[in-house]
Amino acid sequence: MSAATRSLARSRGRRVRIAPSLLSANFARLADDVAMCEAGGADWLHIDVMDGRFVPNLTFGVKVIETVRKLTRLPLDVHLMVVEPEKYFEDFASAGATGMTIHVEAAPHLHRQLTRIKELGCSSGVALNPATPLEAVKEVVPELDLLLVMTVNPGFGGQEFIPYSVDKVARARELLDSAGSKATLEVDGGISRATIVDVHAAGADTFVAGHAIFSARDPKAEIEALRSECRVKV
Ligand code: DX5
Ligand code: ZN
Repeated sequence: MSAATRSLARSRGRRVRIAPSLLSANFARLADDVAMCEAGGADWLHIDVMDGRFVPNLTFGVKVIETVRKLTRLPLDVHLMVVEPEKYFEDFASAGATGMTIHVEAAPHLHRQLTRIKELGCSSGVALNPATPLEAVKEVVPELDLLLVMTVNPGFGGQEFIPYSVDKVARARELLDSAGSKATLEVDGGISRATIVDVHAAGADTFVAGHAIFSARDPKAEIEALRSECRVKV
């Protein structure tokens, strides 16, 4: 039996957490978009911090986290696409981040960095680029509250889902389960009604979506539509 088949058999009843990515929100009316996500039943808000070095794009930092924190009580899932992520841990934790996810490709001292995130009272997450093997995080699984499998190359919203990520998600599910880890398994990039079912069946439980939600005719309803796709299949 393949990893994907085993994961599908266990997908019945697996939770579905939807995390809209504010990268695709309208920043001229951020408060309205945050309220829309809440009203639509979003579980978390995903905040993409980019530094123009780890990824070829610049977004926002502590000020936006602070602002969003004041607008909602939803957990803030902060995704650091930056080099030297540890430089931002204290500020982001004080600003109200619930969890911080760093990239293994930018974190040579992963154990120390994850420990520090937890010391600051946040959930600790690690993200893997599409080309990075799961082995890169194997030794730190006990430290993980969240494992993020990128399903596009990070840097921009609205990119196309990489189909062979599904198999990686299935293997990530096995890695966590075989270690007895209860860590969240999150996917990010190109998640839509068309792609969410397969990654859910493969073992993901938390789904970041930017373009699919914010470009929908009815963004509020799209949050529930994404969730329903997973329920239909399982
Ligand atoms: C990509 C970011 C994602 C992005 C996802 O670098 O990490 O969180 O906002 O956007 P969509 O859902 O549009 O692919
Ligand atoms: Zn992200």
